[in-house]
Amino acid sequence: MKIAILTGAGLSAESGLGTFRDKGGIWTKYDLTQVATPEGFAADPALVHEFYNARRANCVESEPNAAHFALGELQSDSAHEVTIITQNIDDLHERGGAKDVIHMHGQLLRALCANCGERWDAPIIMTPTDLCPRCSAPQTRPDVVWFGEIPYAMETIQQKVSESDLFVAIGTSATVYPAAGLVQLARGETRELNLAPTDAAGAFDSGRYGPATSIVPEWVQSL
Ligand code: APR
Repeated sequence: MKIAILTGAGLSAESGLGTFRDKGGIWTKYDLTQVATPEGFAADPALVHEFYNARRANCVESEPNAAHFALGELQSDSAHEVTIITQNIDDLHERGGAKDVIHMHGQLLRALCANCGERWDAPIIMTPTDLCPRCSAPQTRPDVVWFGEIPYAMETIQQKVSESDLFVAIGTSATVYPAAGLVQLARGETRELNLAPTDAAGAFDSGRYGPATSIVPEWVQSL
């Protein structure tokens, strides 16, 4: 069976990485226009690097949880062709055994040169004076997709979702496009797995609700 899985911050919540829109979420503490837009970066690169440096340190200190491991196991089960598409910029899917994860919003542990496009493994602490290892321009940034920028690999993502026999959204509030619109492309069965039903719950054929560390392993076992 071809399974396309879309994950969001709720999957990493129990690993201690914050979600965005829950009570006490990241966007209740930071103004996203200042730390997650190209304009914010241009206005105050030091603030943006500080924001991502803190999240990078948090990510490095965190551990994948039972939901990440269950998805890694599902992907290695040869009975299914499983594509994991994530909005998360952490590396917990990979550390939970997943392969070829499509990071549509980029990756916290990667750096990008805004001048020449070079990408490399990000140091834990990035600063506005870092120089690109290829062109030496002082224009390094986290390799993450900010609001107003184009998510990565959208063609592949749309193809995988439309070809899937089963599309499952896990731990996402389904409020940020284009990720939130993917369920409309799914031709097969669709399922929402989340702490609680989202506003998009009605767009799915079915849903299972509870903490990801219990509902995701249960779901994987049930396949
Ligand atoms: N188990 C399962 N689901 C959970 C858990 C948990 N332990 N904790 C929270 N959730 C759910 C919440 O109910 C919510 O629906 O995870 C979802 C998190 O939603 P958001 O905080 O909006 O995160 P996400 O959907 O990933 O945001 C999408 O928005 O800010 C941008 O680029 C950022 O990738 C992010 C995108």
